[in-house]
Amino acid sequence: PVPKRIKIRAGTTTRETRVVIQGWVHRLRLQKGLVFLVLRDGTGFLQCVLSGDLANAYSTVTLTLESTVTIYGVIHSLPEGKSAPGNHEMAVDYYEIVGLAPGGDDAISNKVQESADPSILFDLRHLVLRGETMTGIFKVRAALLRSFRRVYEELGILEVTPPCMVQTQVEGGSTLFTFKYYGEDAYLTQSSQLYLETCLPALGDVFCVQESFRAERSHTRRHLSEYTHVEAELAFLTFEDLLSHIENFITRTIQYVLEDEEIAGIVEKLNPNFVPPKLPFRRMTYESALEWLNEHGIPNEEGEKFKFGDDIAEAAERKMTDELNEPILLTRFPVEIKSFYMKKCADDPRVTESVDVLMPNVGEIVGGSMRIYDLEELMKGYKREGIDPEPYYWFNDQRIYGTCPHGGYGLGTERILAWLCDRFTVRDCSLYPRFTGRCKP
Ligand code: 4AD
Ligand code: MG
Repeated sequence: PVPKRIKIRAGTTTRETRVVIQGWVHRLRLQKGLVFLVLRDGTGFLQCVLSGDLANAYSTVTLTLESTVTIYGVIHSLPEGKSAPGNHEMAVDYYEIVGLAPGGDDAISNKVQESADPSILFDLRHLVLRGETMTGIFKVRAALLRSFRRVYEELGILEVTPPCMVQTQVEGGSTLFTFKYYGEDAYLTQSSQLYLETCLPALGDVFCVQESFRAERSHTRRHLSEYTHVEAELAFLTFEDLLSHIENFITRTIQYVLEDEEIAGIVEKLNPNFVPPKLPFRRMTYESALEWLNEHGIPNEEGEKFKFGDDIAEAAERKMTDELNEPILLTRFPVEIKSFYMKKCADDPRVTESVDVLMPNVGEIVGGSMRIYDLEELMKGYKREGIDPEPYYWFNDQRIYGTCPHGGYGLGTERILAWLCDRFTVRDCSLYPRFTGRCKP
């Protein structure tokens, strides 16, 4: 009979029948006259055993790491006391080479070495991606994106796709990437928020998963020049509603990610101490955070005690989150350090209805706020920030034609992934990370 063509993931259900699998040689080992080949096909790893004539004919010239092969054989359960991925292995009876990778000096194992200079590893990103840690991270990433969408679907929030090429800023002029758009000045979007706001009267609550771009000048563990931004905008809600939506969104997303056994296994391996977040998150105002920082002797950027109006920079923020070691909803930031569109608190006009979600090890993973929905108030916001309101005529119209209280947030996919998979830097969490000085491959 013609052998059944399968993917490795289906191996468990196709034991004891002859199958054919195509993939890449992930590992290769010769032992006691047998060749142990771990095959990788993207869906998983399978140990394949070559014996007898197949093993005798084996040489490093005919089979090398990362060669592409078609393998025929039967998958058996493992005998007691042996271990291999999936608890089974394939007895190979025939194989063909589809693409032979070089051996010797040019072998992939000589090019990609974990000890290599990080910039060499970024040059070789296309090869590094094949490693087990990287493939694990990108499977978790896919599960995260799937789960975000599942939660939004359940909440009846509609997905839209706003443009990346824009002529307005959202989060300050200093991090804009500019380019010529048919002779006109344009930017790569920093956030799709303003576009989402205009969708509310048309479609109700909306979300998007879109690349955002920031010309960040500094090298940090958590800043990319391009990142995948998950943003939502919700109409007719209070600041308190927004906070509870955000904490629910995060806990449910993580719950769905971990429902998948394979994904839960990867997270367990990468981050053995991971504790799924529990409701409700700790709430802390900006001012009480300053008090906490001052009490714990953590200084501001100038090396002094924090005072109202200071930015809580990355280092201080992380010291606090690592110490408290739980998700935090940090609220009510001063008007001066936040964007032009943020609504002021009714009980204290010095501060805004704004929130950052902070996670241990990473710090800020979400930024959100209630929006100014009164046109005059918004005009004052532009003025304070020195922004010309003219290009924002479409955004202002939202305040003229049927305004409503609304708010939303943006979540950095690479940041939540770095938290979930315990990565030192968000660069591990982007397929081909873009940061200062790096735009290849
Ligand atoms: O706090 P940010 O700048 O907020 C906004 O852009 C709002 N307009 C979003 C909204 O309300 N719709 O960015 C939101 C999140 C941050 O919390 C962070 O997780 C991520 O985007 N982020 C970055 N991630 C990687 N690299 C960067 N350079 C990032 N800048 C922001
Ligand atoms: Mg922010």
